[in-house]
Amino acid sequence: MRQPPLTSTASFRALASHAAEAKDWQLRQLFAADAERFPAMTTDAAGLFLDYSKNRADARTIALLLDLARERGVEAQRDAMFAGEKINLTEGRSVLHTALRMPRGKQLLVDGQDVGAEVHAVLERIKAFTDRVRAGAWLGHSGKPITDIVNIGIGGSDLGPKMACLALRSYAHPRLKMHFVSNVDGHDMDAALEQVHPETTLFIVASKTFTTAETMLNAHTARRWFLASAKEEHLARHFVAVSTNTAAVQAFGIDPENMFPFWDWVGGRYSLWSAIGLPVALSVGFGYFSTLLEGAYAMDEHFRTAPLEQNMPVLLALTGFWNRQFLGAASLTIAPYHQDLNRFPAYLQQLEMESNGKRVTRGGQPVDTPTCPVVWGECGTNAQHAYFQLLHQGTDIIPIDFIAALRPTHDLDGHHDALLANCFAQSEAFMKGKSADEVRAELAAQQLPPAQIDALVPHKTFPGNRPSNTILMDQLTPATLGALVALYEHKTFVQGVLWDIASFDQWGVELGKVLAKKIESELTGEIDPARHDSSTNGLILMAKAAKVQ
Ligand code: F6P
Repeated sequence: MRQPPLTSTASFRALASHAAEAKDWQLRQLFAADAERFPAMTTDAAGLFLDYSKNRADARTIALLLDLARERGVEAQRDAMFAGEKINLTEGRSVLHTALRMPRGKQLLVDGQDVGAEVHAVLERIKAFTDRVRAGAWLGHSGKPITDIVNIGIGGSDLGPKMACLALRSYAHPRLKMHFVSNVDGHDMDAALEQVHPETTLFIVASKTFTTAETMLNAHTARRWFLASAKEEHLARHFVAVSTNTAAVQAFGIDPENMFPFWDWVGGRYSLWSAIGLPVALSVGFGYFSTLLEGAYAMDEHFRTAPLEQNMPVLLALTGFWNRQFLGAASLTIAPYHQDLNRFPAYLQQLEMESNGKRVTRGGQPVDTPTCPVVWGECGTNAQHAYFQLLHQGTDIIPIDFIAALRPTHDLDGHHDALLANCFAQSEAFMKGKSADEVRAELAAQQLPPAQIDALVPHKTFPGNRPSNTILMDQLTPATLGALVALYEHKTFVQGVLWDIASFDQWGVELGKVLAKKIESELTGEIDPARHDSSTNGLILMAKAAKVQ
């Protein structure tokens, strides 16, 4: 359905005039005025708890945002996605990552095919294969069990499995060491090959299209390295593929028996749940991989059925939308207070920015508001000692998503209380700030001379009023990780619906790919100066000159 421009909708206009009233709101005052703010602005689902009370919003703000969600058709579009309608308009595809985590036996017919049955048939193959490798029954060509797994893939074929293997480190198989090679930069492959031995290494070539230049180059390099000490007939024990492109996998020399398929209705950045998750299943075992899927399914069911007022992905999306549109927040920082979620911000960068980094509507018209904020981040407490300074006292408003587990998966004394104390203290500090009067009183108590107090007060004052969300879980487990990732997937979906943008394509990555191919041919052959500007020509010539040294 063609949507009217966002700013012309009745609910957006109501929000805009509400925002004008709310412009000077102070979070401190909102908390002081309402003792029930925390219970009123928290919700839980699928083992996760969301506290969105530290946003510059009140009950009326949320009610108006919910009106907008309804006016933009969030519920109908959500149902269309789950039903397998072709909501990826520019590629004419269904968007069915949710089908990848449906329980066995649940039917979903798309174009006459039972998607659920196909998904579970592949899951069975994943189980059989991963059980053998983990048990030491899948042997390398010289009869030794596999000890190292090198996943070769990029973007969605790398970020999800890499993030999840690290997040579930405590569940990992003790014999299997996971490596991830994504970058076309040979240093990446070089560093991995340095650590592994051809007799005991399994390579997974993971690419939805099996045409991605970086992955193909890395896969050929790995194959050459392997064949330097082994024979062609040994390849089958050491190379498997995950792809939708059987012909290209075969052309590369991987037996289709060793190929784990998925489908064009799985977007790259939504593919962790498909056979792209093979490294995760190898590392933590098929049982825990299934629990990851169950956690995501629990969040799917919540998103699909909970009233919007208590719907966690919807509330996360709406508060983020409010910050973006009406507070001018151009970026969002993700602060996991959990070292094992170290790669989660990088994972979310692709999920949110590749999905909603768009400037036209689904109908092809320029959007009339800003869209996806820049997503970035780093684990707490490391981030506190690096860039939190800017978040506290810089000139921009940068909302923060704090993510933490109430219980650790280690048993080292003292660390977890220190970690959680920092997490909660930061969210309090961002909210409250520290007024000039408070600073002055503090400095006076230290008996500093008045002139020094006057000079220091502006530097030591924190404006506060910085919005944040806090997401808590009991422990980081396969189930809560699954729910967490699905939470952000659905948040991204809801924001895409609000902005009326095509969240499931990524044409923006194409231009650079095409130009890189041309320049690569010039680095090895003749340069065509007429093709480029003076800067690009100059850079190409410098690289060519370095080669002849
Ligand atoms: O170029 C961007 C992109 O298509 C991503 O969307 C995708 O996750 C990545 O490249 C890798 O693609 P593939 O799995 O086909 O190699």
